[in-house]
Amino acid sequence: MPVIDSVSVEKRKFSPKKNFVKKSHIKSFKEYKKLYNESINNPEKFWSREAENLDWFKKWNKVYSWKKTKLETKWFDGGKINISYNCLDRHLKTRGNKTALIWESDKGRSKQFTYKQLHKVVCRFANVLKKHGMKKGDRIVFYMPMIPELAIGILACTRIGVIHSVVFGGFSSESLKDRIQDSRAKIVITSNASIRKGQAIPMKKNIDKVLSECKSLKKVIVVQRDKSLKTSMKKNRDVWLHEEINYSDINDFCKPAEMNSEDPAFILYTSGTTGKPKGVVHSTAGYLMYVYLTFKYVFDYREEDVYWCTADIGWITGHSYIVYGPLANGATSLMFEGVPTYPNPDRAWKIVEKYKVSVFYTAPTAIRALARFGDEWVNKCDLSNLRLLGSVGEPINPEAWLWYHKVVGKNKCPIVDTWWQTETGGIMITPLPGAMDLKPGSACFPFFGIKANILRENGKPTKKGEGGYIVIEQPWPSMLRTVYRNPKRFRKTYFSKFKGGIYFAGDGAKRDKDGYFWIMGRIDDVVNVSGHRFGTSEIESALVSFKGVAESAVVPFPHKIKGKALYAFVTLKKGLNESDELVAKLRTHVSKVIGPIAKPDKIQFTDALPKTRSGKIMRRILKAIAEGLDDVGNTTTLANPEIVEILKKERV
Ligand code: WTA
Repeated sequence: MPVIDSVSVEKRKFSPKKNFVKKSHIKSFKEYKKLYNESINNPEKFWSREAENLDWFKKWNKVYSWKKTKLETKWFDGGKINISYNCLDRHLKTRGNKTALIWESDKGRSKQFTYKQLHKVVCRFANVLKKHGMKKGDRIVFYMPMIPELAIGILACTRIGVIHSVVFGGFSSESLKDRIQDSRAKIVITSNASIRKGQAIPMKKNIDKVLSECKSLKKVIVVQRDKSLKTSMKKNRDVWLHEEINYSDINDFCKPAEMNSEDPAFILYTSGTTGKPKGVVHSTAGYLMYVYLTFKYVFDYREEDVYWCTADIGWITGHSYIVYGPLANGATSLMFEGVPTYPNPDRAWKIVEKYKVSVFYTAPTAIRALARFGDEWVNKCDLSNLRLLGSVGEPINPEAWLWYHKVVGKNKCPIVDTWWQTETGGIMITPLPGAMDLKPGSACFPFFGIKANILRENGKPTKKGEGGYIVIEQPWPSMLRTVYRNPKRFRKTYFSKFKGGIYFAGDGAKRDKDGYFWIMGRIDDVVNVSGHRFGTSEIESALVSFKGVAESAVVPFPHKIKGKALYAFVTLKKGLNESDELVAKLRTHVSKVIGPIAKPDKIQFTDALPKTRSGKIMRRILKAIAEGLDDVGNTTTLANPEIVEILKKERV
């Protein structure tokens, strides 16, 4: 049985308002249930009807297949389609002059692209990539701040069938190197600077060293985000995007590649329980289908919406719900370069006011951070256009939910608490806002096509109210297809815990008496810090790579703003002394190896870690210590039980 944080199940319910329901796509629970049942019992019928809403070069032969033993699923096989075409070209006739992308810079400058304009720059960008020899199936890594060129660049890739892999700009150069090498990318697209809180921070300069260590790399395309910053360019390798894209031989139109449904669209690296981050591979047609449909129903999309998702495009949320999902629906999507508290704690609300945002999607960590500044920052902005709010990335505690609902949503906006993962490609468990009552802290029900269940260790379903492992029992269109160049890891990570092709998500959950899902968070060694995902083993390896560190164990502990924070226990080799200075050095070291977001919040030095007689670190005990508990549970199987009291006494 997984160890699950005990969450008191909220009793309160919030029904959608009548005028909201009236305009909703799905207006009642009955209607949801009917479609849901069809999607599970007759997926062919459900998905072929929905797939008619996309534009195909060639229709599929078979809606889906699932070879359980090979773990091979195919969606819309035989079909030919292009993601970029579906996000751009098909809207040109009806929405050519509608705003597709709004960009708000750190300093408050605004740039907007209509569908026509976006189509043109994407085509030109794609032609630049072609000119540099990029072909179907080649890989390009993006390491960029949140600037329009990132959205444009990935759309350019999918236009010509190049597989993109976006690396979050907050990762270290070492992390970037691992990903370029694993994906064997031929091109890296980066920026000379990123702008944060009014400051330009060099970007390309920080990665120049590792770029020269990547053998596969042929070209580096650089965006000039800051003209005043001197940037060294390596001859015959580095080129400026603004020069390349403006050459007169670059055409305004680029023919979209006719991709097979199952061709890979992108790779996105994400942390697991062991080893280096793995390259999650997403397909073309299934992925597009699923993000299109979830965006439409979960955000109950209306043509006049201005939609803002605050994620970074470096994460799956940005891929699916800043770029592909919204644009496939012809929506207006906003991307923001800065941070929601700069220059003042009302920055996010000012943006909502400025652009008349109607749908707002963010993470609980941001909600908690913004709530801390007090209601007045929200109240002085005009949020009257908001009609729907969303949450993603970690469990949302009921207090944060209620604040979000009352202060931001003025008691009138439903909140969609959406549970999903990099691997799932799109939203899996979620309210449909016009169709069901909400319970603060519950992600409600599975989306269409998602056969979710909660199992005991022995593979039997749990009873109502009983915690267990959340699993998906049938493939869905945007399921990851494999781990890049590592099919063994794909099988082991997701399909070995339970037999028979059951997808194991790594989260704990329970269902209440009404069937609502309550997600409890990770039950493996993955931690969600401010909604960013890390394997504790990654951070341990980083710590141990510091000279003089003998061993380390990293566990999560609850944190008011971040949800979970990292607590590291570290043993030192002889010759290195414990000190505050060393704590600071270790934190900087982790920052260098992985990125600033992975820095442990607390570091405790110890002479030994609690271990079983076979030498296994007892993380359960360390977790209890990090959580500040007095009772750390059973210690009888420890080889060194005396260490527990010492660790408790010296806890930081
Ligand atoms: C967690 C982010 C509770 C979960 C889209 C999952 C959530 C991990 C929720 C995936 C939610 C995401 N409620 N937990 N609404 N949404 N999670 O891959 O632990 O960055 O396994 O994808 O985030 O993180 P990832």
